[in-house]
Amino acid sequence: MLMPNPNYEQLTISVVQIAKVVGRFIQTKRENFSTVTIEEKGKHDLVTAVDKAAEEQLVEKLSELLPEAGFIAEEGTSSKVGDVYNWVVDPIDGTTNFIHALPCYSISIALKENDQVVLGVVYEITRMECFYAWKDSDAFLNGHKISVSQNAILDNALIATGFPYNDYAQLKEYLRLFEDLLTSSRGVRRLGSAAVDLAYVACGRFDAFYEYSLKPWDVSAGAFLVERAGGELSDFQGSNEHYSGKSIVATNSKLHDVITTKISTYF
Ligand code: 2AM
Ligand code: CA
Repeated sequence: MLMPNPNYEQLTISVVQIAKVVGRFIQTKRENFSTVTIEEKGKHDLVTAVDKAAEEQLVEKLSELLPEAGFIAEEGTSSKVGDVYNWVVDPIDGTTNFIHALPCYSISIALKENDQVVLGVVYEITRMECFYAWKDSDAFLNGHKISVSQNAILDNALIATGFPYNDYAQLKEYLRLFEDLLTSSRGVRRLGSAAVDLAYVACGRFDAFYEYSLKPWDVSAGAFLVERAGGELSDFQGSNEHYSGKSIVATNSKLHDVITTKISTYF
């Protein structure tokens, strides 16, 4: 049975609760083990039993919430494709940080209605910070409205990026751009979770974020948060294809032109 008019706000509140429950599971596993067992899916592409167990829990709980929805989930727990609704799920975004017991890893959950994201939740587990928004809403962090920064001056901007970790085809271009932005901004940070980088753009901690060779589950929820918080997004070519994750630049909107112009110089 198709849900006629999903209440996006109610759905989002339920997803926030689910993320917190599964986040507690992930953190308990981290605290109870000095090392976690690691598998390599591909070069530098790591997964642990905790990623898989967390994704199973998320798929089960999200299926109860919206039975007709399918999944695009990083660890491939469900192959169900929804006619209208699909959850885009990363059980741990920042697995390398999780493995090394570094702060900053998150659960990232978005819901797509046809091709449009209609809700996004990023739960940064170590600080217990939950960022969320739904269709036509403001964006929130733990119950408080958030918005992007107002800074229009690149020299005062704090920028986040992700370093290439297994796709080195454009490494030279990336490093030239990195040098340019490093010397023309206040600084560049690399947290290791794209979902958190985007959530931090949404709440104004970062003025901008850029990275390439990501996947939809890394960026869907965070990109939606940036939209709802008043930011601007594109891919490196300036097109609207950023939800694929192949390349993404997210800014407070005031810095979008200057940063995309620099990106187009190198890419
Ligand atoms: P993941 O932890 O879900 O794999 C950071 O640059 C982004 O790249 C994260 O969203 C992270 O998502 C992804 N990534 C995948 N493999 C990585 C690796 N070996 N090192 C760093 N980031 C990785
Ligand atoms: Ca992951």
